[in-house]
Formats: sequence, structure tokens, C-alpha cells
Amino acid sequence: MITAGIEALGVAVPGTYLDLSDLAQARGVPVAKFHEGLGVREMSVALASEDTVTLAARAARMALKDVDPHEIGLCIVGTETAVDHSKPVASFVQGLLGLPQHCRIYETKHACYGGTAGVMTALDWIRAGSHKGRKALVICADIARYPLGSPGEPTQGAGAVALLLSESPSLIALGPAVGTCSRDVNDFWRPLYKKSAIVDGQYSLSCYLEALQGAYLAWQVESGGLKPFRSDAFAAMVYHVPFPKMAKKAHWALRDFDGDRDPEVSYRWQVEHGLNFPQRVGNLYTASLYLSLASVLATDLRPLDGAQVGLFSYGSGSCAEFFTGIVTRGAQAKVKALQLDKMLDARRRISFAEYERTLAQAEGADAAPAKREAAGHPYTFLGVEADRRVYARP
Ligand code: HMG
Repeated sequence: MITAGIEALGVAVPGTYLDLSDLAQARGVPVAKFHEGLGVREMSVALASEDTVTLAARAARMALKDVDPHEIGLCIVGTETAVDHSKPVASFVQGLLGLPQHCRIYETKHACYGGTAGVMTALDWIRAGSHKGRKALVICADIARYPLGSPGEPTQGAGAVALLLSESPSLIALGPAVGTCSRDVNDFWRPLYKKSAIVDGQYSLSCYLEALQGAYLAWQVESGGLKPFRSDAFAAMVYHVPFPKMAKKAHWALRDFDGDRDPEVSYRWQVEHGLNFPQRVGNLYTASLYLSLASVLATDLRPLDGAQVGLFSYGSGSCAEFFTGIVTRGAQAKVKALQLDKMLDARRRISFAEYERTLAQAEGADAAPAKREAAGHPYTFLGVEADRRVYARP
């Protein structure tokens, strides 16, 4: 079978964030509830000039910095916060990045699982030989929004992770065994007429954990194992991170399936490195799992060359998958060189008042007349002109 996996990655987050201590103070909630109860410290806030397209394009530009765009034969954007009911985010990205015409371009949706749906399709495309030597670009991009003042509010966030997938996986070679678990549930959804999500919070936690058990068991069967497998064989366990405490709950549940009565120890070495970035940006929906993977590669100080990592993707509604990868030699140095920590440090902290103003502006941004001045980031959403979205590019 053709080897396939992640050759390069790129990350984009908005240039602004809200410190969760400011949100706690404004909402009259003890800050410990956000810091310790949920594990979140900062939350990315997208300005009206940033949308799923601009975040996706910025992440993709980073992932493609050493690649000729003409090598891309498949471009999929996984998102649950698209900008149009018909035209995919991937087409806007094609235009902004100059991807070739002979490239299959589309968008996938299944809540936070939508990006992994794209990854699985790209892997099948490569392994089947349909790629004919070309590479796939899968971009996970989202802006997570819950009603102001709701329990979901501290678990918002925004950002994108772009993955270049190919038969030369110089970051992670992904294994062919995939355990799937899907069910029709109403844990989290967003009706067409709403900008923010509706969630049955506590129920969503149990749906996530049940899906983890189902996907993990299915993966064990898929990977041929009647032999007992223990998840502490993974050097790192990377989970979908709606908020960091959820990854902790997931790890407790996973280790419990394996009969481990003291998961705190393995949590420290298997999971915590993957939460360093997520605790600074919040939920990125489709991109959360892959930001956590980037966090492991950038911040885990142990040499991981040749190590196996476990990955768990969950999308409400629901679909979940458990799969694995082997870290390629030199992958950690490549991801460290992206200086993602510096990118996070360079963001501007906004006040609670600016946060509320920004979200109010974003409500109307999809119909606002285009302004001609481009500001800030290399790709900017300028507004709408004759019902067409207008973007500035570098
Ligand atoms: P809540 O009702 O505000 O919080 O909602 P809580 O009362 O459950 O407290 C949360 C934790 O803080 C608890 O810890 C409390 O004990 C602790 P736990 O018992 O769970 O370990 N706590 C404190 N700790 C220290 N000091 C204090 C204090 N007070 C309380 N003073 C909830 C929490 C997560 C439900 C809410 O934020 C929410 O609805 N978030 C959105 C839904 C979500 O993220 N669900 C996750 C699973 S579904 C999923 O991952 C899919 C998703 O990403 C969407 C997609 O697929 O597209 C969401």
C-alpha cells in the first residue's frame, strides 16, 4: 500500500484574543471555573475583516510555503462555518492562493468532524493512486460562536489548520486502520437562520465520550487486534479539544477502557503537550484536533521520531474516528520552525467591551458593503459588492 500522511502544516489564528479572566470578571464567574474547570485561558476572537476564507487562506499559505501550488490536485475545506450556501470556501481559497484549474475543489461538513472527513478522502485518493503524484490540501477552518452569556461562551474560538497530504509524509505517516462510530444525536447544531450554535452541553459531553469508546473499539478491530492493546503504547494521545478539560475527560475514559486506574500519570506525558496551543485559542471546531497535533510536535521536548500517536476526531451530530500516525524523523524541528508560539504571543489582547463590539459587528459583516482599505493580515474580507464577497490579497 502507498504510504500517505501529512507532509506539512500551517496554522492561522485571528490577531486578537480575549483573556478568559476578563470574561470571567464581566460575567461574574470565578476565573477558576474557566482556568481549571474548563482548562481555557485565552480565546481567539475574529474581527469582521476575518472570516473562514481568510483564516483558511492564511493557514494554507503557511503549509504551502515550500510547494508549487500546481502540485495540488485536490483541495478540500472542512468547515461548519462556511460563508455561502453554494460556493465552497475552497473556491475562494483557490482564487486567493492561485491553485491550478486541474484541481478538484470542494467543501465538507460534519460539525467538527468535517476536516477529518477531508483528510480521510485525501488519504484514500492517494492510496488508490488517483493522485498521480500530486498532493492534497485539506484545510480545517472555523469560527466557533455561542450565544453571549451562555455556558458555551467561554468555549468559543477561531482559526484554521491546513494540512498538505502526500505520499511523502515528512511530518506524520497516517495508518490505514480507522475506527468509525456515528449516531444520529442532537447534542450540538446550528440552524440555517442562526450565527451561533445551539448545544445541549452536558449531553454533548456524554455523546463525545460514548463515540470515543465506539471508535476506539472499532479501531482495535480494524487494526487486526484480537491481541489486547493498551493506549499507553502511544507516545501521545491527541483528541478533539472543544475545551482542554474535555481532552482530560476523554483520556480518563480511554484509559479506563484499558483498565488503567491511575490515568493522571499518562495524561501528563500523553496529552498535556497537545493542550498548550488549544488553551490559548479555544475551540476551532474542525481544526481543534489538528491544532492539538501541532501543539504536540511544537512543544513536546521528548524526541518523538518514529513514535506512534493516537488521534481522535469527534463531530457532533455525530461522527467520530480513531486513527493513528507515526512521527517522521525531523518533524518536530519542522513544526518548531513555524514559530507558532510567537504567532500566538504577537496577538493583541482586547477588552471585554471590544469583544462585545466585535461580535456585534461580525453579525452584520456578511451583508456589509465592501470597504476598499485593506488592513492587517495578508488576506482580508472587505465586505460585499453586488452580492459578491470581496477579499484583499497580498
Ligand atoms: P457549565 O454548565 O458552565 O459548566 O458548562 P459546569 O457547571 O459543568 O462546570 C464546568 C467544570 O468547571 C466542572 O468541572 C466544574 O466542576 C468546574 P468537571 O466536573 O466537568 O470536571 N467548576 C469549577 N472549577 C474550579 N473552580 C470553580 C468552578 N466552578 C465550576 N469555581 C459546558 C460546561 C462544557 C457544558 C459548556 O461550556 C458548553 O456547553 N460548551 C459547549 C459544548 C461543548 O464544548 N461540548 C463538548 C463535547 S461536544 C464537541 O466536542 C463537539 C463540538 O466541538 C462541536 C462540533 O462538533 O462541531 C462542541
